[in-house]
Amino acid sequence: MHFELSEEQLAVQAAARDFAQNVLKPGVIDRDEHQRFPTEEVKQLAELGFMGMMVEPQYGGSGMDTLSYAIAMEEISKVDASTSVCMSVNNSLVCYGLQAYGNEEQKEKFLKPLASGEKIGAFCLSEPEAGSDATSQRTTAVDMGDYYLLNGTKNWITNGSTASTYLVIAQTDPEKGHKGINALIVERGMEGFIVGAKENKMGIRASDTHTLLFNDVKVPKANRIGEDGFGFKFAMKTLSGGRIGIAAQALGIAAGAYELALAYSKERKAFGKEISQHQAIAFKLADMATEIEAARLLVYKAAWMKDQGMNYDEASAMAKLYASTVAMKHTVEAVQIHGGYGFVKEYHVERMMRDAKITQIYEGTSEVQKIVISRIALSK
Ligand code: CAA
Repeated sequence: MHFELSEEQLAVQAAARDFAQNVLKPGVIDRDEHQRFPTEEVKQLAELGFMGMMVEPQYGGSGMDTLSYAIAMEEISKVDASTSVCMSVNNSLVCYGLQAYGNEEQKEKFLKPLASGEKIGAFCLSEPEAGSDATSQRTTAVDMGDYYLLNGTKNWITNGSTASTYLVIAQTDPEKGHKGINALIVERGMEGFIVGAKENKMGIRASDTHTLLFNDVKVPKANRIGEDGFGFKFAMKTLSGGRIGIAAQALGIAAGAYELALAYSKERKAFGKEISQHQAIAFKLADMATEIEAARLLVYKAAWMKDQGMNYDEASAMAKLYASTVAMKHTVEAVQIHGGYGFVKEYHVERMMRDAKITQIYEGTSEVQKIVISRIALSK
């Protein structure tokens, strides 16, 4: 067992850190305040090869490993979690889903422009009445011979109005339960597909979260991913990898807030010395450093297991559960260390605290991760 990053992974880390500090940081407060999607910044992420990091070069991707992806997610999220969620959904839900389970024609047509960053993708599972209980899909995809007739509503869709390609999970045969669910590729511009209201969110405010409506959308059979009825397993398998991305995002938010709190504690003086010299603050910093490092080990281990071809369902759920808990807990502490300055936008940590919350909710709440982990533990 060794813990050193390779030359390539160190290079990815340096490039992501540089991009986050120099390109993302200057506008991050403004984008958050005005809920402005980072259009130009995402184009530059694509130029760095960060929108299709794990996709093979023959399909327009960078051919990197999952650990490199997690490292890049961590660095980007230290500064801007709104940008990193766009990156995460495109990489680990949409591109990975198509690369692992799409056919050759789908990879040529849909994966290539997504992996190169020419287009952005969205993953559409959640519904008004199907969040954690993902088998209860109300959106229907009725088999009409050559095509599916898609009807329903999807909620909380990241990249909702900026995407061009949408992976939509829908029920074809309710009698078969989760075995009657399909995953369909829906393209922007298909008749009957409407991008609905944008959410006004507490955190990740610059990310583009929408309701989507499907009214008699004709989706060609050629756009179904996998065999008939594979849609629920497709969603679960894809989300299992997606959770590594969100765990890395949570890790980055926590680490970013910690770095700011550490620097501030060495500048700010109170009662005659730097506040870092007061044990009340030093002990907080020690807890933050320790728990963030533990989260990093879980995240990197889950990514490594995926790269080794091992089953990573349990590892990704553990990484997401723990890293998101650490992100929430320690962004609150970072605000506390900053005192009154932590409560104003210029110091960044209040945004990080708001952003951290969603990592305990999307791609499966903390409670869902506990369901996954406990079921695996009980089956051993
Ligand atoms: N790999 C393969 N198959 C899997 C699987 C996995 N990781 N997990 C479950 N399955 C299979 C099961 O084996 C079972 O199949 P069989 O009947 O053939 O054995 C089938 O799927 C149903 O599984 P369960 O009985 O375990 O299903 P459940 O109804 O009890 O639910 C759950 C389990 C873990 C709670 C699941 O519903 C879940 O993960 N819910 C959360 C959904 C979620 O993460 N939503 C996030 C939306 S996407 C998002 O947030 C993106 C974004 O924009 C940022």
